Amino acid sequence: MIKTISTTPYGDQKMGTAGLRKKSQTAMQPNYVENFMQSIFNTIGKLDDKTFLVGGDGRFYNDIAIQKIIKMAAANGVKKLVIGQNGFISTPAGSNVILKNKLDGGFVLSASHNPGGPNGDFGIKYSNQTGGQVPSSVTDKIFENTKNIKEYKICDTADIDLSKLGKQQLCGMEIEIIDPVSGYVDMMREIFDFEAIKQLFAKGFTMRFDAMNAVTGPYAVRIFEELLGAAPGSVVNAVPLPDFGGLHPDPNLVYAKELVDLMFSDNAPDFGAANDGDGDRNMILGKKFFVTPSDSLAILTDNFHLIPAYKNGIYGVAKSAATSTAVGRVAQARNIGYYEVPTGWKYFVNLMDSKRITFCGEESFGTGSAHIREKDGIWAVLFWLNIIAATGKSVEEITLDHWQKYGRSYYMRFDFDGLDTTVADKLMADLEAALPKLSGKTFNGYTVSDAAPFIYNDPVDGSSTKNGLVIKFSDGSRIVYRLSGTGSSGATLRVYLEKYEVEKLREDPQQTLKQILEVAMNIAEITPRTGKLQADVIT
Ligand code: G1P
Ligand code: ZN
Repeated sequence: MIKTISTTPYGDQKMGTAGLRKKSQTAMQPNYVENFMQSIFNTIGKLDDKTFLVGGDGRFYNDIAIQKIIKMAAANGVKKLVIGQNGFISTPAGSNVILKNKLDGGFVLSASHNPGGPNGDFGIKYSNQTGGQVPSSVTDKIFENTKNIKEYKICDTADIDLSKLGKQQLCGMEIEIIDPVSGYVDMMREIFDFEAIKQLFAKGFTMRFDAMNAVTGPYAVRIFEELLGAAPGSVVNAVPLPDFGGLHPDPNLVYAKELVDLMFSDNAPDFGAANDGDGDRNMILGKKFFVTPSDSLAILTDNFHLIPAYKNGIYGVAKSAATSTAVGRVAQARNIGYYEVPTGWKYFVNLMDSKRITFCGEESFGTGSAHIREKDGIWAVLFWLNIIAATGKSVEEITLDHWQKYGRSYYMRFDFDGLDTTVADKLMADLEAALPKLSGKTFNGYTVSDAAPFIYNDPVDGSSTKNGLVIKFSDGSRIVYRLSGTGSSGATLRVYLEKYEVEKLREDPQQTLKQILEVAMNIAEITPRTGKLQADVIT
């Protein structure tokens, strides 16, 4: 039943910030998934002692791709696959399955927060035994293999029934179908004070969780409604759909509009949250109040002692370079380690594995801890609920307290989408070349104190990564520029702005950052080079 099929390479199977991301139509080309998977199997080498997880966020084409992956794993001699029932598993739940069961890695089929459907995106994330996505040294090898692929192996059988829990065999490989929700729920119960949160809801606390028709619906209903007692219907868009019901499952002020409108209306519940397509991103809102992910990371870190799993102390904390410096002030005050890494969760993995950090986060609505090796959307929501239950304070009060204690980093991100890749690459190259000449110059009253590419030297494996360009000003304000590594076509320029204030705590971020935005646009010549007068997406 094992067949070897000839194939020819595609030249574009390079993994980005988080796995392979492609238009569904690209991924649906003949042998596209097969080439990519065979290249991974070839890179790993010995497979007969390996067990992998397989699952995904349920998006369009996952059902077909999963069957291909299963049949190819069997034909390549993989020992065993652990598969989420019906092919579903959230990214954080997948990381937990790998870690808890000491698997050798896994494949989560998701393009994360990118839209799904025939005209949307498809993706594959590949994790190793750490439960986190493989480092660039491995993705580079896989990419080389995709360029030389000549054949792949597949077990020629009927599709596997993924609805039935339990064990099956395929071409000599063991398959175990697991409930994707229960192990994750058990882990959350071990971390947080479910009793206290339950009492909060029993006293009438209200919440809205928007699962955005993506994978977290079943997790959220089970945890928030069934176990913690949030009112039925608190979780909306709770049924995962292949095209996410047309939603763009990215939990931010732009794409989670329905939730944002509710939270800023007079009917707002006490608490609002949303997760992305594969459940690793989160957005936190209070009544008429939005918490930036950078602030959220700082606030969670400062409140670690309120959470049962962390109350005895935490190692350090890390953020991506583009994320605001708010958490750095907490790390300093609490005298814990503090690390800045390139954008992408995989850079946190070594720091967690070596017990240098417990918490980490990114401005892109990602927050997490060393309980797994991916960011974790529901974990962040439960953390906030636990703080609210323990302090009796609202989201707004908790955040205000934080700003009063530490000052506030006004922070926003401006995305310029759909750029010609040549134009975007040249903009970045020219800007990098111009950085050394900026030091000491003053723009709109902001004097540049330092301007350089961000370079990360991993303290664990010694690798060095360059990611983004950083301009620092004498008052602590910053501009960071980078090109996105998760898009499936064209280029996206991300511009991250930050200004630190100790006294003016309740200003409008857009107003506060207006001058710096102008500086950022001018220094990089964004309008003349791209034709864009303003950003397409502001978060
Ligand atoms: C984006 C975010 C980054 C995040 C990644 C995966 O990557 O900016 O923080 O880790 O998605 O969720 P980018 O498109 O910027 O490369
Ligand atoms: Zn995601």
